[in-house]
Parts: sequence; structure tokens; C-alpha cells
Amino acid sequence: MTITASPAWAAINAHRQAFADNHLKDLFASDPKRVESLSLSFDGLLYDFSKQRLSADTLRLLVSLAREARLDESITRMFAGERINVSEGRSVLHTALRRSAGPFPSSQFDVMPEVIGTRQRMAEFAERLRDGKCLGFKGMPIRDVVNIGIGGSDLGPKMMGQALRSISHPALGVHYVSNLDGAQLAPLLQTLDPRTTLFIVVSKTFTTQETMFNANTARNWLRANLGDDLVSENHFAAVSSKPERAVEFGVSKELVFPIWDWVGGRYSLWSAVGLALMIAIGPHAFDEMLRGAERMDEHFRSTPFENNLPVIMALIGIWNTDFLGATTNAVLPYNESLKYFPSFLQQLEMESNGKSVSIAGDALDFATSPIVWGELGNNGQHAFFQLLHQGGRLVPCDFIAAVRSDYPLPEHQEALLSNCFAQSAALAFGRNEAEVRASLEKESMSPKEISDLLPHRVFAGNQPSSTLLLTSLNPGVLGSLIALYEHKVFVQGVVWGINSFDQWGVELGKAVANRILPAFYDADLAKTLDASTQGLLSFCRKQLV
Ligand code: F6P
Repeated sequence: MTITASPAWAAINAHRQAFADNHLKDLFASDPKRVESLSLSFDGLLYDFSKQRLSADTLRLLVSLAREARLDESITRMFAGERINVSEGRSVLHTALRRSAGPFPSSQFDVMPEVIGTRQRMAEFAERLRDGKCLGFKGMPIRDVVNIGIGGSDLGPKMMGQALRSISHPALGVHYVSNLDGAQLAPLLQTLDPRTTLFIVVSKTFTTQETMFNANTARNWLRANLGDDLVSENHFAAVSSKPERAVEFGVSKELVFPIWDWVGGRYSLWSAVGLALMIAIGPHAFDEMLRGAERMDEHFRSTPFENNLPVIMALIGIWNTDFLGATTNAVLPYNESLKYFPSFLQQLEMESNGKSVSIAGDALDFATSPIVWGELGNNGQHAFFQLLHQGGRLVPCDFIAAVRSDYPLPEHQEALLSNCFAQSAALAFGRNEAEVRASLEKESMSPKEISDLLPHRVFAGNQPSSTLLLTSLNPGVLGSLIALYEHKVFVQGVVWGINSFDQWGVELGKAVANRILPAFYDADLAKTLDASTQGLLSFCRKQLV
């Protein structure tokens, strides 16, 4: 039975029919305590969802839905290390990566000795590198670190590295390369000194095509510049759940850091996958980030659903998607330092919950993950916000901003925050005909001019949004923020009855790419491909000769 057949789902549907026509303007007018009752705070974080199109009753019904989906049991099962990722037969234990002590998840199955041991090795290596004691060619200290990885082996550390660049090591360059397109790696190599560059090859499987291409190119570049000797030993580290493959590639055993099957790629920021980040911000700040995430884990595990941030955030997403009919969710950070946050969330949410069959393999008759997209909010205002305001589509938004700036310039911060708050207010409350008319009349326009302009100047409003305010972009708050979204995704997966921890949908494209590549060089093989691919290949071949 899917969740849509439950009494709780039916009750929410009935409530929606009676409630959904309310305009946010009226909801605010009729309840002076709306902000108080529809916001939560947690340790340096304020989550204001008063501008969502819902009421306290909606939330109560949504919480019943979570109970009906037995969310409490699922939380217990995840933290107990049960194999809830059933299609891959794996436990889901990324929360172990930010725990301060064990045993965890149990004394019979305790992963903490390995986790803490790896954390210590990472910290020692990162400190040596930061102190200029990690030596490259002919004893020259390493000055640049290049993280080679893609998806979960890139997005988390890159996003967090950008978010915390104000506290990054001033003299070390930390770079991220993911794209197979040489246009990312080639220009970077031109700026690097091979004698003082370290590459960290990050790949859980150590087979991902993009990563292996880039790693091979990096190795060839080092060999061409430094000769064969000592290249691997001094200029490569690796992170993988297949250490033997990294050693075979040529990384010295001491510099291969493990990850484990029970960590999904998109949940792996906290593991050795975050090594480049730790090198940039230092082990102490990295640890603060883990503590922030651990605090969110405890909050998630122990707080009643009504006051539980990830649970409430998840249920609001379900309300918007499955009851109000939203198909997308815009993520709009106002801090330049959060510019990679939307792409990080895209993988976290869409790779986790972009599914249309239940855990048991039954087709679902409702929508799961919305299309997550976004951009720096202030830039977006002058680009795509027009559609949010007047495009007539329902686009729930997450506004995210830090109260204190990480790069203070006089008066910028207040202006920035005013813009952030103005947008969510304008989206929610809009501007009706009477208001537009009154303002145009003040501009002494003729009645004809006013009636011609009126339809263009009206803002329907009622566009739902939440605002997440962080005290500042410090490692602890950011750790809590990411863990909040991770648990939100988990809760939604539980309610939808899907497995949030596999990603079979990315496999077909990989397999097809492997069939197409040799066809570039083999015309007979090309003939076995579909007609469209043959046409594309034939165009390329003519250009490439
Ligand atoms: O193809 C998708 C994916 O498997 C992601 O889930 C993962 O984060 C990424 O590729 C990279 O995988 P790996 O770390 O094994 O190179």
C-alpha cells in the first residue's frame, strides 16, 4: 500500500480543498502570531516558514502523515545501522562520520574506531601540508592541492570550501576538478607548478570515467614535467572504498584514505572525501563542522516531530509537491560564499529522491522529489525572478542568508538582507489591482494609461517560501545546515516509501557512454548504434579529421 491510500493522506487532501485558496496576505492578516507559531530555531539557525501556504492545522495533519509512515521506526533503524539501503544491501551510517565517540551504531557493529582513526590520519596529513611539511619534488613544499572527483566526491567539499573561504589557509591553493571537459583541467594545469602540486583522487568506486580520465591526465602531466620517479609517492593521495585500486594506480599506501560502503557519495562530505576541505580550513574548523552536524543529528533523533526542523522542512516540501502541485523548488542563497549550495542540494535531493518506484518496487502514483534548482538570490533577482513574481507558476523558494557577513564591507550586509527579505515579502503578498491603481494615480496618469498598464503591474503574490537565517557562515552552523537538509531528504524518502540511498538511474547513461566511445574510432561499431547517435557521430567525425 502506498502512502496515498492512508487516512492521513486523505485527511490532508480534504484539508487542502478547504484551505488552499487562502492568500498569504489573508493568513497573515488573520493571525498576528503567525511568525511565532510557524518558525523554529536551532543553535544559530532560524527557520521561518510563515510564508508557506499552510496553517498550524496543516502541520498537525502532516505530522500525522509522518506518524502513519512510521517515521520514528525508520529513524531508529537508520541510526541502528540496519541495512535500510535495501537495493544495495547496505547500512546508512553517514551520521557516524560526525560522531565524537562510540560505540556506534552498536557495540557489536562499531564503526567508530575506523572513523576516528581515519579522522586522525586526515588531520595529521592536513596539518603537515598546511605547515609546509608535506614535500613534493626535490623537497619543495606542496603549495597547491587539486581534488579530482565528481558528484558526491566533489560537490560537498567544493561547496563547503567556498562557504568557508574566509577562514581558508592563505597560502595554499585548493582546487576542484570534476568535468571530463579538458577546459576545466587544462587551464588549471597552466597555473600550477608540478613540483609543488598534490592531486587527491577521490572516488568511492575508483572507476568513475570522469575522475579516472582527469587523474590519468594529471599523472601524465607530472611525468612529462618531473620524470617518472617519485611522482606518485609525493604528488598523489586518494580517497576510496577500493584502496587496492588506488594503490594500483600508483598512490602510496600511506596516502590512501578509506571510505566505506555504508556512506553514500552525496552524504560523504564528513568522511575523508572532505580531505581537501580539511586541508583548506584546518582540522579544528573541520571538527567544528562535524560538531554542528552532530548537534543536528541529536536534534533530529530526539525532538518531537512538531518541533523537529528536518521533519517540518520535509513535510512542508511534501505539502508543496503532493498537495499544492509544485514541481520545482528554488534554492536562493544570498551569500556569495554559498554559491555552490544549490548544485550540492541538487545532487542530495534529486539523486536521493528522484524515484518513481517504492522500496518494494511498486510504481508510485504521486510525485516525489521536485526539480531543485537555484542561484545566488541577489543575482537571480535581475535574471529569473521575473518569472517567480509574474510567471503564474507555483515555485516554492528557500531563501538562505547569513546575518553577519564573512567579508564585511560597510553597509553591504544590511542592503543585502533587505533585498532578501523584500523578495520573499513581495512574492508572498504581491500587489493587487487596487494597490497598483492607487500608486499609478499618484503618478498623475490618465485613466486610459492606468487601465493599459494595470495588468502588467499587478503581482498575484501567494508564492510560498521559507527563509533560513544563519547567524554567520561558521563551520558549526554550516555543518548543522547540511545535516538539516540530509535529514529532510531522509524524512521525505520515508514518507514517500522510497529508497533515498541508491541511484540506479545514473547507470544507464554510463553504460551507453561506454558503448559510444569506441564507436568514435570504429565505423562498423557506430553502425550498431541508434540512428540519432549515428548522425551525431558522423557530424563529429567530419569535424575531427
Ligand atoms: O554516477 C553517480 C555517482 O555514483 C554518484 O552517486 C557519486 O557521488 C559519483 O557518481 C561519484 O562516484 P565515485 O565516488 O565512485 O567516483
